[in-house]
Amino acid sequence: MRHLRQRIEEFLEHFQALFEIDGSIPKRFRKLSTSLSKQPKSEANAMIHQPVYFSRNTVQGGDRAMLTNLRDIVSTSQRNNSRDGITGFLIFDKTWFVQILEGDKTQVMETYNRIARDTRHSTATIMNVRDVEARLFPNWTMGGAMRTPEMEEVYLEHGVGSAMDPSRLKSAQIIALALDLQAFEETKRKGQRLAS
Ligand SMILES: Cc1cc2nc3c(=O)[nH]c(=O)nc-3n(C[C@H](O)[C@H](O)[C@H](O)COP(=O)(O)O)c2cc1C
Repeated sequence: MRHLRQRIEEFLEHFQALFEIDGSIPKRFRKLSTSLSKQPKSEANAMIHQPVYFSRNTVQGGDRAMLTNLRDIVSTSQRNNSRDGITGFLIFDKTWFVQILEGDKTQVMETYNRIARDTRHSTATIMNVRDVEARLFPNWTMGGAMRTPEMEEVYLEHGVGSAMDPSRLKSAQIIALALDLQAFEETKRKGQRLAS
């Protein structure tokens, strides 16, 4: 029992490091987090292409394998998206990925086609695509949130129960949830900065 609890704690600690869920910026991600705050190039008058999709997480192996893979996905995403002027948000648990991408249409479509071929997930299904005037996640080359107990209330407020099933959700619901998760993270970071 103690062993299991320790493993769960280790697992959560790794995810916190991965997405800076505790608001601090671990050294090895400092460079990446700097890129998070970079604003994309000026895009006056250009519409922003914004697909929302979900897919099944097929990462095999235990917690460690999953962590390694997720870390890899996030660092590759942040590197490429920063280069391609793409922003967005990735919500995931052990079963599902839900991602919002936004940017220039050609770049977003190229990125989505690359993502859809990735064998770390399957059956990528686009829920909605629209063109909008402004980005919703301008500061995130790929923000992400692993569901943790402290975020539970945010999920529940958006009608997402403990077993998330994106196929039953509407894209507007996903976007609203992601915006609140983003706000949750940003408020926490600000609080931590003020306290230090
Ligand atoms: C759920 C999920 C989300 C991903 N999101 C992105 C993304 O936003 N941007 C990106 O470039 N790659 C993303 N990837 C990784 C791509 O599938 C692919 O591995 C990567 O773009 C290849 O880049 P490289 O040619 O620079 O190695 C994602 C993969 C998965 C499984």
